[in-house]
Amino acid sequence: MCGIYGYIGPRNGVKIAIDGLKRLEYRGYDSAGIGCIVDNGIDCVKEVGKIGVLEAVVDGLTSHAVIAHTRWATHGKVTRENAHPHLDETGAVAVVHNGIIENYTELRNKLKEEGVHFHTETDTEVIAQLIARIYEGNFLRAVQQAVLLLHGSYAIAVLHKNHPDQIVTAAAGCPLVIGVGAHETFLSSDPNALAHHTREVIYLEDGEVALIKADETQVFDATQAQISKKTDALLHDIGTVSKGDFQHFTLKEIFEQAQTVKNALFSRASEEYGTVAFEELHLTANELLTIKRVLIIACGTSWHAGYVAKYLLEDVARIPTDVEISSEFRYKNPIVEGGTLVIAISQSGETADTIAAVREVKAKGAYVVALCNVQGSTLAREAASCLFLRAGPEIGVCSTKAFTSQLVVLTLFTLLMARLRHMSKNEGHSFLHAMHELPDQIDEILGHADAIHTIAKKYSQYNDFFFLGRRYMYPTSLEGALKLKEIAYVNANGYPAGELKHGPIALINETCPTIALAGDKVTYDKLLSNLMEVKARHGKIIAITDAGHGALKDIADDIIVIPKTLDELAPITYSVACQLFAYFVALERGAEIDKPRNLAKSVTVE
Ligand code: M6R
Repeated sequence: MCGIYGYIGPRNGVKIAIDGLKRLEYRGYDSAGIGCIVDNGIDCVKEVGKIGVLEAVVDGLTSHAVIAHTRWATHGKVTRENAHPHLDETGAVAVVHNGIIENYTELRNKLKEEGVHFHTETDTEVIAQLIARIYEGNFLRAVQQAVLLLHGSYAIAVLHKNHPDQIVTAAAGCPLVIGVGAHETFLSSDPNALAHHTREVIYLEDGEVALIKADETQVFDATQAQISKKTDALLHDIGTVSKGDFQHFTLKEIFEQAQTVKNALFSRASEEYGTVAFEELHLTANELLTIKRVLIIACGTSWHAGYVAKYLLEDVARIPTDVEISSEFRYKNPIVEGGTLVIAISQSGETADTIAAVREVKAKGAYVVALCNVQGSTLAREAASCLFLRAGPEIGVCSTKAFTSQLVVLTLFTLLMARLRHMSKNEGHSFLHAMHELPDQIDEILGHADAIHTIAKKYSQYNDFFFLGRRYMYPTSLEGALKLKEIAYVNANGYPAGELKHGPIALINETCPTIALAGDKVTYDKLLSNLMEVKARHGKIIAITDAGHGALKDIADDIIVIPKTLDELAPITYSVACQLFAYFVALERGAEIDKPRNLAKSVTVE
């Protein structure tokens, strides 16, 4: 969740690293720090808060060798002391770290017994102390020996005051990319933060250690043997993304969805045959026909997209589908039978639990297709095929446009599987036709933003909400509730409407409004009955519907009407309305929307 940046070369690395940290700030924004080689050793500057706070205090500092860090606290409170870099007790070694060292207590106790004094509560300080303790004149060797003692996940970058022309870096379970420039070298947790300096990158694999100098990078494997690594080319520079005229990135990204949905559809729909072709899917039609079961693994919003896909794949393509939360799945002993296709969904492609789950199923022989938004990410590189979302950089921590793009790609995949099996060409055409209407329908919903704002304002001071839906609207309700929790800090529960009476209805009263997602025609009447039960208990109801007013008019206190689409596509349109509702509630409550407290965009720890 933290971000690492580093520079070694002829330019002032402090400025370069601050700029790099700004590009990584989505990974953590509790505190930040910078460590650099100066005339008499290593200088470290750390501050609590956003990168801007650090930037103000490093003004005037220069160095040709710098490591830097933006933190999302795991071990130890958000304080200046706990911010990175961490030094050993002599100040000879500085370390920035991403990940968690699971055996740090044991290592710390052992070092303490040897007389080492600790100054912070972090697991990272152990790494610095360990390297300093092992060091006998060979910096690289000391890091190589130290990492052998670490259990857990890490990406680290290390400076030693006796080796001012070197940075040593290592990775296991966390991403670390080295950018090769002309007489200068960069390192980062995210390749996109390097692309404006260089397109030539080296990805460190698990267990590898690299000795980085301005003109040269040497990489060693876990056995400490030097290896030759290929240089990958970054495809493009995502540039500095701006908010434009929008107050928040989150709002801008919500408003981009007509376009991002178009991008996800572009060139994938085969109009002539009413089916779909994915250029990036390295599976033939015959191979796709052998798939008997789909297993989807993901976390958070991506898991909600996977849950919608379970309904789609079973209902439309008639393929049994399981959807699992990666953090639970990775500790099962999963049964992966022949004929199982695994779909791993992750916007960032760096979610530690999803990557671990992917490695587990790969070890069991499964074919993994990833759905990912970030080229060059760990997941995109691990999977056998990767279907890209083409949503463009999503800066808001709260996933919005990536979610609807995930739904589009999963729906296209479902159509492909259905057409290969039983769906007729005409049915395929109608399905694609409905999908092509989505961008205009999304624009229409965005056109109702002011009306949704008015309703959100009316309910903005309530502290508990239910989101109810049935069938496709059930996972949509989970996602709607997550948006409200995440950016407005309001308690919200997504629930299958029919399940309410089995317990949660006890919570319904005039202080707990219900958002009713009335977008499923098959269960529409059933949902109305469930809403009557809410009404009878004085619960306020805000209905989102495409069914005009009808019976809902008498039941709901407020109605948001959105365009009609297929039940299978309604999770996309209804989610846009839910995103706007959550955004405006958050705005009215004065919450920090783009970077909600306690959250990070990329969850690279367990
Ligand atoms: O990058 P991923 O899609 O793997 O991220 C998974 C979740 O951390 C993520 O969807 C999270 O739930 C979002 N912040 C929700 O808006």
